[in-house]
Amino acid sequence: MKPDSIRSGSDVIQERSDSIRSESDVIQERSDYKNWVPKSMVIGLAGGTLAAFVLFLLFGATGMILQGTPRMICAILFGAGTLVLLFYTCWMAALHRTFDYNGKRKLAKTIIDGTAKYVKLPEGGTGLDVGCGSGALTIAVAKRNPKAAMVGCDIWSGAYKAVFSKRRCEGNAKAEGVTNVRFTEGNAIRLPFPDESFDAVTSNYVYHNIAGHNKQQLLLETLRVLKKGGSFAIHDLMSEARYGDMNAFVKALKAQGYEDVRLIDTADGAFMGKKEAKWLGLAGSALLVGKK
Ligand SMILES: C[S@@+](CC[C@H](N)C(=O)[O-])C[C@H]1O[C@@H](n2cnc3c(N)ncnc32)[C@H](O)[C@@H]1O
Repeated sequence: MKPDSIRSGSDVIQERSDSIRSESDVIQERSDYKNWVPKSMVIGLAGGTLAAFVLFLLFGATGMILQGTPRMICAILFGAGTLVLLFYTCWMAALHRTFDYNGKRKLAKTIIDGTAKYVKLPEGGTGLDVGCGSGALTIAVAKRNPKAAMVGCDIWSGAYKAVFSKRRCEGNAKAEGVTNVRFTEGNAIRLPFPDESFDAVTSNYVYHNIAGHNKQQLLLETLRVLKKGGSFAIHDLMSEARYGDMNAFVKALKAQGYEDVRLIDTADGAFMGKKEAKWLGLAGSALLVGKK
C-alpha cells in the first residue's frame, strides 16, 4: 500500500471503505455536527463568571475577609472580571444558539448548504473538503453529487479536539446514509495529497484558525491538489487584516489561467446580514469560487 503522502484522493476513498464501515458501526444513530462554539465553552465561561463573582463577594463587596485598600482593589478587580466574563458568556451563548443545527436560526447549516451549492463534481470524480470538522460540508457536497465522492480531511487536534473527530465524521455520514465519503487526517499547511488529485476543493471557516501562516499561501496549497479544470469554493473570514489584498489574489489567479474567479461577500445578505455578521464576529466572510 502506498503511503498517504503519495496517494491520490480516489485511492484514499477505495482503500479505506471497509475500515470506515466497521469503525462507524458503533457511533451515534442520528447525525450531530456539533457547534463551532461548543456548549462546553459556554459552560466553562459561565463557571468562570460564577467563580469571579464569588471572589468579588468574599474579598470585595462583603468585607468578610479583607478591609480598606486591599478590599477595594479586590472589589474592582473581581467586579471587572465578573462583568467581562459575563459579557463573553452571554455572547458565546448567543453564538451557540445562532449556529445550532437544531436551533431557530441554523446559521451553520445555511453557510454549509450555501457553500456546498458551489461545488460541482463530475461523475466518478472526487472532491476534497479541507478542515472538515464533523463532516458537515463533506457530507452536504457528497449528497449533492451522488455519482461522485468526497474526502474530508482535518487535523482533529487543537481548539476543536473535544468536539470534532474522524469518528464523528464517519458516524454522521453513516447516520445520514451517505456512503460516497471518506475521512482522513490531513493538515491544510501541507496536504497529504499529490498535485492535481481532486476534481473540486472546498473548505469552510478553516484557514483563519491557522495562526502564523500566510492565508494566501494556504489557499495556494489547497489549489495545488486541484486538477486542471476542477472547481473550488472556499469560505472563510477573508478580511484584509487576515488575508491581505484578496482582489490582487483573484487577479493573480486569473493571470495564471484560472477561470470565473470571484470573491462573493457572504456577509452582505448571501449567508447573513451585515449587522448580524458584525455582532457574530463574522464580518469579512467571503466565498472564493472559480475553476482552475
Ligand atoms: C470552525 S471549524 C469548521 C469545521 C468545518 N469546516 C465546518 O464547516 O463545520 C474549523 C476546523 O478547522 C480545522 N483545522 C484547524 N487547523 C487546521 C489545519 N492546519 N489543517 C486542517 N484542519 C484544520 C479544525 O480542526 C476544525 O475542525
